[in-house]
Amino acid sequence: MSSARAQQRSPVRMDDVVSLCARRGFIFASGELYGGINGFWDYGPLGVEFKNNLKALWWRRVVRERDDVEGLDSAIVTHPRTWEASGHVQHFSDPMVDCRACKKRFRADQLDDLPPCPAREGTSEHDLTPPREFNLMLKTFVGASEDTETVAYLRAETCGSIFTDWKRVREVSRQKLPFGIAQIGKAFRNEINPRNFTFRSREFEQAELEFFCHPAESPKWFEHWKEERLRFHRELGFGADVLRVRPQEEKERAHYARAAVDIEFLFPFGWQEIEGIHDRGSYDLSRHAEFSGKDLSVLDEATRQRFVPAVVETSVGIDRTALALLCHAYAEEKLADGESRVVLHLPPVVAPIQVAVLPLGKKLAEPAQRIARDLRRRWSTFYDESGNIGRRYRRQDEAGTPFCVTFDFESESDAQVTVRERDTMSQERVPVAGLVTWLRERLEP
Ligand code: GAP
Repeated sequence: MSSARAQQRSPVRMDDVVSLCARRGFIFASGELYGGINGFWDYGPLGVEFKNNLKALWWRRVVRERDDVEGLDSAIVTHPRTWEASGHVQHFSDPMVDCRACKKRFRADQLDDLPPCPAREGTSEHDLTPPREFNLMLKTFVGASEDTETVAYLRAETCGSIFTDWKRVREVSRQKLPFGIAQIGKAFRNEINPRNFTFRSREFEQAELEFFCHPAESPKWFEHWKEERLRFHRELGFGADVLRVRPQEEKERAHYARAAVDIEFLFPFGWQEIEGIHDRGSYDLSRHAEFSGKDLSVLDEATRQRFVPAVVETSVGIDRTALALLCHAYAEEKLADGESRVVLHLPPVVAPIQVAVLPLGKKLAEPAQRIARDLRRRWSTFYDESGNIGRRYRRQDEAGTPFCVTFDFESESDAQVTVRERDTMSQERVPVAGLVTWLRERLEP
C-alpha cells in the first residue's frame, strides 16, 4: 500500500488494532485464561505466520543475500560474565519510585500520567519514595541451589553472544574483516511499565546485526547500514509520512557510542523507535577481552599491527515492526454498495495467508481443493468453503490475504478461476494452468 493512500485514510485507533488482533487471533494476552500476565503476548495462528514471514524477510535481506554476514542462534540463558562485561549488571536499570500507600512502583521519568492512588484518604496523590535504580534484567538460577553462585540472566538483548562467539564464528566461517554476525531471538526485560500493546513488552524478539570492521572504517559502514535498514522499512511499505530517522542527542548516547540514530515509526500513540543503529566503537570486544582474559584482536595485514575491531550495530524489534505493520495496514473502508469492511493492507510478503481458495459451492470442493493443494506447496494457502462468498472475502480482508481464488460453476468448463485482489477488490479471470505463474509474479519480491 502506498503511503499516499495511507494519508487519505482516517487515523487508526490503537483499540481497533488490538481488537482485530484478538478477534482474528493475531496477538492476544499470554495466560489469558488466568487473566493475562502484563507485558507478555501470544501470537496465534495468523500472528505466527505473519511474524515468521517478517523474520524470514529480515534474514533474507541481512544474512542470505550477503556474503559478508553469518547467522547465529545462541542460548537465551547466557554466561553471567557476559552481562558483567557489557555493563548490564551494573547499569541496565531505570530510576523507580514506590508509593508508600498503595505499594505500586512507577518509573521516575514517567510520573506525569499516574493513575490516582487508591489507598490514601483525603487525597488521590501517591506518597512517593525518592528514586532508586531498579535492574531490568530477568534473573534465574541454574542448578539445584538458589544462591549468588547460581544466578544467571535471561538475555536482555540478543547481541551479547554475538560478541562472545565472535572469535569462533570468524574462525569457522573463515571470514575476514569487515563482516557481520546476525541473530534473531527472544530478549527479556523486566519493564516496569509495559504499555501500548506489544510495543513495550517484557518478552520480545529482536533481530540484530553486529558488523565488525576496522575502527577507521566504522563511519562508512554506519552510513551503509543506515541506508540498508531504511530500504528494508520502505520495502515494508513505510513512506516518509510514517518513517523517520532521528539522530540521538549526545546525552542519550552510550558513553562509548560514536554515532547513533533511531529509526522511528508514527504509531497511533506518536513517533516511537522501532530500530536503533549504533557505531559502538571497539567497546564490546575490548570489554569481553578484558573480562575473559582472551585476546580478541586481529592483525592488520597492511600495518602488521593488531587492533580490536569496531562494531556497527543494527537492532530492530520484531514485535515493534510487526505492530507498526499492523497499524499501517489497518483500515475501515466504506464500500460502493453501502457496506463497510475492515481490511489489513499488509505487504504480500508478510501476509499470514497469501492466497485463499474459495469454491462458490460445496459441490465444487474437489477441484478447488486440488488447486489449494498445489498452491500450498508454494505459499501459505487457506481453503474455505463455508458461508456466502461476500462474507468469506471479508474474512480474508481482515486477515490481510492479498489474493482470493474463486472456483465457480464456469471454472469446470472453461478451466479458469476468478482471482480477487484485496486492495482494489478488482477481479480477473485467470486460466488454472497459468495460476501459479500469475501469483508468483505478484507474491514473490
Ligand atoms: N543491542 C541494542 C539494543 O538492544 P535497544 O534500543 O535497547 O538496543 C533495540 O533495543 C530494539 O529492540 C528497539 O528499537 C525496539 O524495537 C526493541 N525493543 C527494546 N525494548 C523493547 C521492549 N521492551 N518491547 C518490545 N521491543 C523492544
